[in-house]
Amino acid sequence: MTAGAAASLQGRLVTASEGPDAGRIWLVVAGVKRWILSPAVFAAHGWRFSDVETIDGAELVAIPTSPHVIGAEPSADVFQAPRARLSAPFLCGHGLEIGAGMNPQWLPPGATCELFELRDAAEVARIQSAGSGVAVPAADVPPFRRLDEIPARFPDGADFVIAHNVLEHCADPIGTLLEWCARARSGGVVVLSVPHHRYCPDAGRLVPDLEHVLADHLLARDGDTFDSREHAYSCAAGWMNSWEDWLPLDRRALAARLHAMAAMPALDVHWHAFSPALFDELLQTTSLLAPRPLALLAWADPDGEGDSRTVGDVITVLRVGGSAPGDPRPGWRTADVAPRVRAFAARLSGAAQRLAHV
Ligand SMILES: C[S@@+](CC[C@H](N)C(=O)[O-])C[C@H]1O[C@@H](n2cnc3c(N)ncnc32)[C@H](O)[C@@H]1O
Repeated sequence: MTAGAAASLQGRLVTASEGPDAGRIWLVVAGVKRWILSPAVFAAHGWRFSDVETIDGAELVAIPTSPHVIGAEPSADVFQAPRARLSAPFLCGHGLEIGAGMNPQWLPPGATCELFELRDAAEVARIQSAGSGVAVPAADVPPFRRLDEIPARFPDGADFVIAHNVLEHCADPIGTLLEWCARARSGGVVVLSVPHHRYCPDAGRLVPDLEHVLADHLLARDGDTFDSREHAYSCAAGWMNSWEDWLPLDRRALAARLHAMAAMPALDVHWHAFSPALFDELLQTTSLLAPRPLALLAWADPDGEGDSRTVGDVITVLRVGGSAPGDPRPGWRTADVAPRVRAFAARLSGAAQRLAHV
């Protein structure tokens, strides 16, 4: 099949009566075909069997198959439920959520929240549509305010601050955590999650060590520095299989796309992959650097038991200032990071001395 022939099937439902892909119904999107999991999923999308086109078996096989099966992705509820369950005992009053996208966190009765986004509604709708293959009208996007409106909306700090699956989009996670924690009032609560690297396309990437992320912060590396932009390549190594328009690319086109991505303005990637250990170390370090310490109230991750188990997120609930009432654990999940931070400071001061005579 030529690229032109695949392109001519764009958006069409196809099947074949012979060949290895026969008997299944597929949706052709951006040069690849996505299997529709079941008749129930087919019906739920409002498709009609009379619209399914039978094509030649060899022609169907020649269209690259997407790893994404329509109807197989976990629904947003699978992520929402543990976030809501873990944080509900600590949420009350009026708070804010950063980077809610299409999925603002479910709140317990009485708690209210304002939403703040980096992007406008049209852009959030476009990204959601590209990810799901289903057009999302901008009118369906929750009402957001701009991030720079937060100080004026919460001059005395919010009762709670929520940010789910946003930290991996921030080039300087420690700086971002310091900023988010500063938005909560003293005694307020911060609810955060990051995707566990093993349970998202970041699987296989190197998880950075604390010292790398500390250097990002101390050297004020934002998304435009060389060091950050180099992370685009490792991010794409995992994610390109989920970007359907990348799948048909040959090696030269793929290399060109990678280089263009690393250089693009307003680059947004998963700058770093996260493990529970790294997340814990970052939170401890933030607590050491922040004007008000953080106390751990709750934690859940994919390796947890019972209610502390998630399907992919690492979730934490923290109190800003003071200690966690009734929490028998005074500290964090892993060893105290203070000695590592001090050792890193010693390395930096040694390096600075080498430059002192310049
Ligand atoms: C992966 S989505 C997560 C959406 C939602 N919170 C969820 O968990 O389903 C990341 C969201 O964060 C927003 N975002 C990305 N970088 C951000 C930043 N630096 N500050 C605030 N929001 C950001 C994006 O626009 C997007 O809506």
